[in-house]
Amino acid sequence: MSSPVYQDCVLAHGTRGERERLRLLEELSDPSTIAVLERLGVASHWQCVEAGAGHGSIARWLAARCPDGSVTATDLDTAFLEESPTPVNMTVARHDVTRDDFPAGSRNLVHARALLGHLPDPELALDRMADWLAPGGWIVVEDPTYLPAAASPYPQFAALLEACQTLLARTHGTDHSWARRIPAAMARAGLTDIGMTIRVAVCGTDEKENAFWRRCFAQATPGLIATGLMTAEQIAAAVTHLDDPAFTDTAWMMVTCWGRRPS
Ligand SMILES: C[S@@+](CC[C@H](N)C(=O)[O-])C[C@H]1O[C@@H](n2cnc3c(N)ncnc32)[C@H](O)[C@@H]1O
Repeated sequence: MSSPVYQDCVLAHGTRGERERLRLLEELSDPSTIAVLERLGVASHWQCVEAGAGHGSIARWLAARCPDGSVTATDLDTAFLEESPTPVNMTVARHDVTRDDFPAGSRNLVHARALLGHLPDPELALDRMADWLAPGGWIVVEDPTYLPAAASPYPQFAALLEACQTLLARTHGTDHSWARRIPAAMARAGLTDIGMTIRVAVCGTDEKENAFWRRCFAQATPGLIATGLMTAEQIAAAVTHLDDPAFTDTAWMMVTCWGRRPS
């Protein structure tokens, strides 16, 4: 059964522009995700789960890397995953990671990006996903977090980023501080060989990053105005920074953590 919360929020797949936003997220995030997966040594026979797969680029990458194995790409809403033909060793499954399980010890790799921070209890979800791992199997969890707004030299832009976080927190409980707690949660789940790396998203000089954030801000705008978090004028003034060639600031940081079930 699916959670109604995510599917009602501004990031639901039915929201105008969400397909393009997820496509940009993949273009921006896949290189660092793939670098970590390659470092872990994804092998051709691995059985993988890509949880909350979104548009599915990492699921497809895993399917290509594991020709003698398989990947199950799960999501609450599988419409984007079903838009193009799936490789023979890839299965698309409608699956709520807060309720639905895979058999314990059945997977060599579980990956989830920009998923757990949206869940009501990310640590519990991590524990459950860790149970799916075979001995020696890896889990990779990625979630974004932000630098303090007050540290930005661009108060309007920082206020908009902060208001978007507040909107997501209020509308479906997204916790952007979770990302920093992932390694400790992995240790509590009994995982070993824990590691962490961070990709900083830089707005201003990176046109692709700007395009991603324009989409995020456009999708958040009705909610920001309706909840009184920002006025249309304040949002417009903040977004204008993205047109300024001299503007450079961080948006978010994508935290990537990995851990292994002991052999
Ligand atoms: C921000 S998107 C990230 C998509 C993809 N992981 C990526 O990084 O490109 C979050 C995805 O998680 C899915 N999702 C949200 N809650 C979920 C849940 N409880 N179980 C499974 N998928 C969920 C959403 O439908 C959405 O596709």
